[in-house]
Amino acid sequence: MDGPQQEQGGYRPGLEGVIAVETAISYLDVEHESIIIRGYDLIDLAKRFPYPDVAYLILHGSLPDADASKTFQQALAASYAVDVSVRRVLEALPARLHLMDALRTAVSAMAAGDPDLSDLSEAANYRRALTIIGGVSTVVANSYRIKAGLGWRDPNPSLGYARNFLELIVDRAATPLEVRAFDQLLVAYSEHELPNSTFAARVIASTLSDMYGAMVGAVASLKGPLHGGANEAVMHMLLEVRDPAQMERYLLDKLARRERIMGFGHRVYMKKPDPRALLMKALLAELVPVKGAQWLYDLCEVGEQVMQREKGLYPNLDYYAAPVYYLLDIPIELYTPIFFAARTVGLAAHVIEQQAKNRLFRPRVRYLGPRGLTP
Ligand SMILES: CC(C)(COP(=O)(O)OP(=O)(O)OC[C@H]1O[C@@H](n2cnc3c(N)ncnc32)[C@H](O)[C@@H]1OP(=O)(O)O)[C@@H](O)C(=O)NCCC(=O)NCCS
Repeated sequence: MDGPQQEQGGYRPGLEGVIAVETAISYLDVEHESIIIRGYDLIDLAKRFPYPDVAYLILHGSLPDADASKTFQQALAASYAVDVSVRRVLEALPARLHLMDALRTAVSAMAAGDPDLSDLSEAANYRRALTIIGGVSTVVANSYRIKAGLGWRDPNPSLGYARNFLELIVDRAATPLEVRAFDQLLVAYSEHELPNSTFAARVIASTLSDMYGAMVGAVASLKGPLHGGANEAVMHMLLEVRDPAQMERYLLDKLARRERIMGFGHRVYMKKPDPRALLMKALLAELVPVKGAQWLYDLCEVGEQVMQREKGLYPNLDYYAAPVYYLLDIPIELYTPIFFAARTVGLAAHVIEQQAKNRLFRPRVRYLGPRGLTP
């Protein structure tokens, strides 16, 4: 559609508020302060079900019964292990690389193990989804281990998803509270409608490219500090301030310089609370006395109050996920890779849904350049 109609109407920078996709996977019901996942409230799910059950729901559309839950967990555990070629790729990367860059490369390398990348049938895509969800946890944990000189550690398929993943990272036995906190964090990150990374994955999938390619695009999207990278930036900020008594001054100075405060604001929630942040805040309150880190809770609270008062902005998931990660002894550089690991299931479901009822994404532009030039 060229001409005046295209030039005048419909342009929304950043596609803000534009409905780009029909989906039955999830919806941010901002009015009712709920994140709907296949009909259920995400926060209720996080409190009641472990990550694999929620993953099953996201992929298959219904919660598993006891048998299906067991079978799915077993299949997931069987996919923790990755091919030795992926390990070699990770070991060959320079240590200066950010772990999101290592992850992007490793996810691409994982595609080499796929028996037939051109098979886009639902059966092949469900198989691929499990391989990616399980394998990425191993890749993420070991990308850090290699960089930190800890060496490769094989996953333990006799452990549940959250415990195996956490213990690969922290290199010690995790307590039940730590496993529960990490599991809830993974569920909180598992699916969230159509953020930039999911849109990127669907755009790629709409060309009938393969799921690995869509995942690689999503890693690149998630790396950005306006998206997944915010959780790392939040923790750096909290550690820079450290003293709750200094937090207000720090934030006011930043705001006076018109700088963005990471972990606040959201394109969809705008000036409403992100329910996931409340879940993480409650977990933080549980972890703080056990870990002797009251300062961290107080610091976050001051930040929340100042941002509410000064900008009317609420914390997003990343603001309270960062200190939870921190108290679980997770290295800061892993915060965004873990976000991706948790989100693989949502991304896989979106790729499957996109390809089941595909329409190639190909929008138009509002052209601002010259016309009619002659060379
Ligand atoms: C997520 C984000 C990109 C969404 O922003 P957006 O929809 O593009 O919103 P806008 O950039 O139009 O911001 C609207 C207003 O709120 C302000 N604002 C939004 N987020 C802000 C933040 N984190 N710190 C300070 N001000 C913020 C903007 O400055 C703007 O104010 P103004 O109208 O006075 O100029 C934005 O809130 C942000 O940068 N947050 C920090 C990064 C982050 O936490 N990302 C994780 C998201 S889950």
